[in-house]
Amino acid sequence: MSETTNIFAVTGNPVLHSKSPLLFNRLFQDNKEKAVYIRISAESTSETIFLFKDIDLSGMNVTSPFKQTLLQKLDKTGPAAAAIGAVNTVVKDGGLLKGFNTDHVGVTSSLKGLGLRLQERNCLVLGAGGAGRAAAYGLIQEGANVILANRTYDKAVQAAEKLGCQAIPLDDLRALLNKTEIVVSALAPRINPIQKEWLRPSHVVLDANYPHSPLSTMAQSQDCTVIRGEEWLLNQAIPVYKLFTGREANRKSMEDALSSDFKSKTICDNISLIGFMGCGKTTVGQILAKKLGYSFKDIDGVIEEREGKTVSEIFRLKGEQDFRALEKSVLSEIQQEKNNVYACGGGIVLDPANHDTLSRNSLVIWLYVSLESCLQRIDPSSRPLLDTEDRGEKPEVLFQTRIPHYARAADLVVMNERNPEKTAENIYEEIHQTLAD
Ligand code: S3P
Repeated sequence: MSETTNIFAVTGNPVLHSKSPLLFNRLFQDNKEKAVYIRISAESTSETIFLFKDIDLSGMNVTSPFKQTLLQKLDKTGPAAAAIGAVNTVVKDGGLLKGFNTDHVGVTSSLKGLGLRLQERNCLVLGAGGAGRAAAYGLIQEGANVILANRTYDKAVQAAEKLGCQAIPLDDLRALLNKTEIVVSALAPRINPIQKEWLRPSHVVLDANYPHSPLSTMAQSQDCTVIRGEEWLLNQAIPVYKLFTGREANRKSMEDALSSDFKSKTICDNISLIGFMGCGKTTVGQILAKKLGYSFKDIDGVIEEREGKTVSEIFRLKGEQDFRALEKSVLSEIQQEKNNVYACGGGIVLDPANHDTLSRNSLVIWLYVSLESCLQRIDPSSRPLLDTEDRGEKPEVLFQTRIPHYARAADLVVMNERNPEKTAENIYEEIHQTLAD
């Protein structure tokens, strides 16, 4: 792998549930693209921009809660994104960041995929956030009659005015459903304002949420036609792939990728923290282990204990190759345990065999810190790779060449630029919310 690997991401909070990496990594693999797609759990809109630039992403998808706020911070926006007031895709355009929206295509293609004609159809869209507005926009473009409902009524009114449709408060849904043919929900997963008896077999229901959607389960039990949220995900991703690579996406590959199970079964077994020297793996790992009730293990610490030597001594006496062999064997041995948080040495990702070990046994989290901050935090005498009189370009080269390796190994990226407590809390919440769904 070289520095020219293109890195793409989906950013949101929470984002660990996202199946976008499955879709895009399969397409990259099939097309032999030198590219990798990761999940970034950001804490703010400015953090998403910082990470885009610092990791030097080639493109990014955007999910809740950043779809609307990110639009304000971009240099340019495509016409659909501007009309919707939200982005789900950002790409580099020269030196600038340009936002697009393909969510509306996700909705209309999913409905048309059933052979439905959308013109003059009575549609109810739940949610006036980025995804809800995109759904309304797409349906209006197809000539449907759209009514937008939202918990905060004012927000629905504002969005409806901008898009050119009607708005109602959530309380009025019951009567409206009698006249509705298509229901599209873009509300948060746990919010479902619809009661089972209000649904009839003639309703077509599409909920953006996956893998679990209480609305879809309810609609199924009422014999409605239900379109899964994964269908929306897949259909919005097809134009994104074109924006990212200029190529057509193969739908069949994407369907296959979606049916493969993201490591939901092993997700809670272990957590492994990876990232460059000085990114805070030990500090965050210890806090996280406490929160989860797990044990904390430092892979370098285990090696030092077993060898009776410090890592610096091992490098000096045996050389880097021997250290890497020790690192590999300790990793594969102790990853067999369960309920541990591991801090992994910064170079563990260089060996693809270690990726397999990590991916089989752990949820892998890349703690991202800018090189400048890493170098401020570390004592070079404890890091043999940086312990030279004249470091020159070495740290920069090491950092850059490793980025694609971290990206390939990670299930989730979390920034740890400031407060390790907050970083650990963010990881904890991501795990908690994904498992709770
Ligand atoms: C290394 C990182 C160190 C240690 C060794 C090699 C690396 O661990 O394993 O000095 O190659 O990046 P930390 O990342 O914990 O500093």
